[in-house]
Amino acid sequence: MNFEIKYAFFYLYLMFIERREFQNFLSKLNLEQHKSHKLRLRDVLDIRSESLKNGAPQTLEDLPWHFLRKVMALNGTARNTSLLKVASEDQGTNEDEEDMDIDDIFTVLDTDLRDSLNPLDVLCAILVCSNSFLQQQILSKMSMCQFALPLLLPALHTSKCTLMLWAMRDIVKKWRPHSLAESRGFREESLVLTKMPTISFVRMGSCSFSKSQLLNELLSPSQQHHDFFIHRDMESGNIPREIADGLVEISWYFPRGKENSDIFPEAIAVTNLRGDIESHWLQFHFLTEISSAVFIITESISEKEYTFLSFLKESTAKYYFVLKANAGKHSETLEFLNKLAPILKLNRPQLLVKDSTSNKTSAIAAIMNSSPKIVNIETMAETAQELGMQVDEDDKECESASQSAKEITTQIKDVAEYKNKNLRLQGEPWKNLAEVEKEMCQMRTQGDTPIEEYKNQLEIKLLELRVQQKRYGLTDGLNTFIKGIDQP
Ligand SMILES: *[C@@H]1O[C@H](CO)[C@@H](O)[C@H](O)[C@H]1NC(C)=O
Ligand SMILES: *[C@@H]1O[C@H](CO)[C@@H](O)[C@H](O)[C@H]1NC(C)=O
Ligand SMILES: *[C@@H]1O[C@H](CO)[C@@H](O)[C@H](O)[C@H]1NC(C)=O
Repeated sequence: MNFEIKYAFFYLYLMFIERREFQNFLSKLNLEQHKSHKLRLRDVLDIRSESLKNGAPQTLEDLPWHFLRKVMALNGTARNTSLLKVASEDQGTNEDEEDMDIDDIFTVLDTDLRDSLNPLDVLCAILVCSNSFLQQQILSKMSMCQFALPLLLPALHTSKCTLMLWAMRDIVKKWRPHSLAESRGFREESLVLTKMPTISFVRMGSCSFSKSQLLNELLSPSQQHHDFFIHRDMESGNIPREIADGLVEISWYFPRGKENSDIFPEAIAVTNLRGDIESHWLQFHFLTEISSAVFIITESISEKEYTFLSFLKESTAKYYFVLKANAGKHSETLEFLNKLAPILKLNRPQLLVKDSTSNKTSAIAAIMNSSPKIVNIETMAETAQELGMQVDEDDKECESASQSAKEITTQIKDVAEYKNKNLRLQGEPWKNLAEVEKEMCQMRTQGDTPIEEYKNQLEIKLLELRVQQKRYGLTDGLNTFIKGIDQP
């Protein structure tokens, strides 16, 4: 058998194993039926007996609902997947154990070993089981909680990973870049359209310190630590991931216009790949294409890693290595870094030590001063497509919704004029109606008219206005709108 065919079989085999793991994971959360029947916003907002018990989750099946309800309420504890331990008397009596077949025993062992699930796994499962409109809600609320957002979802139910463009469409951010400081100006823009430098953080090999913790330190304003990214010292953050490896998360830094406390003068995006780059080549390749700089966090570089990184010789991104000072095999690592230096165009300042946050902050400041690559999420989506990944907007539902929205918005040249022409009930007639209704309560200009007669006059006026309103038929804009929301 030639190499390619062998590789293809191996790949299919891996996919099969991964699918089965994903399936098992969904059944732990009792979400299996939602793989095809997606969860809708309505399902989350439904008030049921379970939604009223606001307490901590007690079983694995509670975890998705706990997350969804808390994140909808903008509660910062949404990602806490710890289970509340309840002492149960009736579980585990001898009688029960005798009745168990071997499968049950394994399930019990499995849940005994791990008290809960990694929050990133739960998040990935929820997103795969949600329709595109619920995904948009979840990401908007997560953004308000200042949680990092999933940018690339691993290939769990699809053959390639998916870029979450549509899911972020609703998010708008406001910030004060230092370049507008003189005019005291600010920018308020749609997040997916805003162009800014992107810096990526990835791990190579195993590493004894937490990359996400390092990122949180980097992005947190002084004395206000915030966990943008889940990290291993957080509640449940140390539980091994089952399905979320290969997830790329993204977070942003937005300056508040305070020269002495802002960490960076302009907005930047920071991405974080979960898992090792060697097992996630596609995601890593994507990040090298969109990023101005890639920070590779590692403890040792040997022949294998050297060969892997040599493939990047055409890459235009700038590479930084974050090392632990004097970790084991330090001299071998330095030797291979020296060999990599001409290939990746490395300079001395591109070797950073793990313990110094200021080290990384000044490196990023230097990147921002050196005319970095400026991209927005729409551009990232194009890159993703070129690399054969999926973009959530390619979904039929999103496409038709976006088509309907475009049909309406292309007609809008002047907002005020468009409103006058297309929303005819709302403008002048509505204002007049409101005034008459107000007068019916306040009776300000009644004068000498007897009260019943005055009321009668007003009622006639109201009726006339209603008749006038009814004469307007449905406008083209409204027809398109109704057709659009009627479709799905
Ligand atoms: C996480 O949830 C557990 C169980 O409900 C609770 O005991 C713990 O205090 C929570 N941790 C945080 C940081 O909120
Ligand atoms: C967030 O949820 C936790 C855990 O259920 C609760 O103790 C806390 O009061 C909530 N916070 C707010 C602001 O509602
Ligand atoms: C990072 O720290 C090291 C040692 O403390 C120093 O030699 C290097 O210049 C620093 N790099 C940057 C970019 O600040």
